[in-house]
Amino acid sequence: MVGFILERGRLLGQGCILYDDRMSEENEKNLAIPVRVLLVDNDKDHAKAMHESLERIGLECSYATSGPEGARMLNENTYEVVVTDLMMNDVDGMAILKKAKDIQPDCEVILVTGHATVSRAVEAMRERAFNFLEKPITPKRLQAVASKAAESVRIRLQNTHLQSRLDERYGFENLIFASESMKNVVERLKRIAPTDVGVLITGETGTGKDVVAQAIHQNSPRKKKPFVAINTAAVAEHLVESELFGHVKGAFTDAISDRQGKFEYANGGTLFLDEVGDMPMPTQIKLLRVLEEREITRVGDNKSIPVNVRVLAATNKDLEKEIEEGRFRSDLYFRLKIVSVHLDPLDQRREDILPLADFFRRQANKKNGRKTKGFSPALRRWMVGYSWKGNVRQLKNVVESLVVMDLDDMLDMDDLSPDLIGDVDKVSSVASGIEPAVSFLDEGSSELIGKSMKEIERWATEQTLKLANQNRKETARILGISERNLYRLIQKYGLKQSDEKNTESISGSSSQDGVEVSPEEPS
Ligand SMILES: Nc1ncnc2c1ncn2[C@@H]1O[C@H](COP(=O)(O)OP(=O)(O)OP(=O)(O)O)[C@@H](O)[C@H]1O
Ligand SMILES: [Mg+2]
Repeated sequence: MVGFILERGRLLGQGCILYDDRMSEENEKNLAIPVRVLLVDNDKDHAKAMHESLERIGLECSYATSGPEGARMLNENTYEVVVTDLMMNDVDGMAILKKAKDIQPDCEVILVTGHATVSRAVEAMRERAFNFLEKPITPKRLQAVASKAAESVRIRLQNTHLQSRLDERYGFENLIFASESMKNVVERLKRIAPTDVGVLITGETGTGKDVVAQAIHQNSPRKKKPFVAINTAAVAEHLVESELFGHVKGAFTDAISDRQGKFEYANGGTLFLDEVGDMPMPTQIKLLRVLEEREITRVGDNKSIPVNVRVLAATNKDLEKEIEEGRFRSDLYFRLKIVSVHLDPLDQRREDILPLADFFRRQANKKNGRKTKGFSPALRRWMVGYSWKGNVRQLKNVVESLVVMDLDDMLDMDDLSPDLIGDVDKVSSVASGIEPAVSFLDEGSSELIGKSMKEIERWATEQTLKLANQNRKETARILGISERNLYRLIQKYGLKQSDEKNTESISGSSSQDGVEVSPEEPS
């Protein structure tokens, strides 16, 4: 080996590692995701010097002083970056590279090589090495290359993390519902999502069309490709085509350069045409052609560009009426609605109200740093009975405002905005269908007074099973007993359990009673 090892100016031996005390801001920022580095070098002093140099920029390092030891460490631990000398006895750097890529394919490998073996290092690049360093190496150079490798791994980790966050956010698990109507929708979605078929999503404003479109994309094989949305109603009519298909320079006055449209952005992924009922007629015919031919032509151009896009569309309009009145093309309608999904207004699926409200309460707690624990029985009754013209979106906004206005951690009627309270009288009659559930723990509910504990126990078990859609796990959780004990109670009182399928647990579905307040918050 050639060169010197200097430890903060002290001469140590061969090879050249010079220390640099500065830690860049970039490195400080990156400390959040730890990256573990394995250093493999026959020369112990060299390995130690590299070790110290990399630890100084925040990388967590271990070192091995022989190829076999390096290989053993790779078998036993996970490393994100490996820095290995190329020339070693027994197991050399190439073997370490192959082993690392074999068992930890995501890690990056840097080879350290002498001048004479540069050609082998080039060969190593073909074997997916991240980079190589020619001796003598300075600490700066080592730090720079190792930081780049660490960054590359971090970006990959972040993407994976982001992907799982997206899965969490838009997966079916986070569609909150308890109603039969939404159960059917989700069953359909599960069948539709993995295919490539176009879907028309209909429903009043705020019923969840966007959430459903995202959930379809997120549960499809296209989930790693873009999800691109365009709201036709929000784009000026003369620009819709350019937004969708792109344009070439000079196509119209403002077209000062070539521009891609949403179809091209979405290539490989999903394009969501929101408010498709507002699409201008001339664009509708062009869209139909694109859907049929799977290629687009930018405005002002005559060259066609192939696109591979799954198209989802949504509208809160009655498209059949729009067709009758000559505002929507029937051929496009039938093309878009090869499969359709309809979301009922919230007032027609009141069983969803309390689970949704509880979900939004927890979200609002997190967002606003509050600790509200639940809704008072009167407020629960009000929510179930209120006429939610703005559907789920309005419910979400009302719950957030309740959380913000609250002073005592229990949401009650006094936290409601006065303009909503005006509607209180309408409430009880509408809520009557779900009344038993809502009044479950109403203060002063005295039906149970004078009853034996046995009767109360039976009643509570039966009611809670009902509220939790017969889901035993959820029921046991609400009652604060083990599933085994619940099972004993079911046997003891001869309670019939209906359809096991109903036990499918959807987050939030148990909170219909409003009784249970679990400590965990959704992310
Ligand atoms: N089932 C659900 N579970 C959880 N959140 C929901 C659900 N349905 C709707 N939401 C939430 O309610 C709000 C409104 O939903 P969304 O934007 O999807 O409605 P929309 O039908 O697209 O409305 P618009 O017609 O006005 O575009 C969003 O914040 C969404 O996250
Ligand atoms: Mg929408």
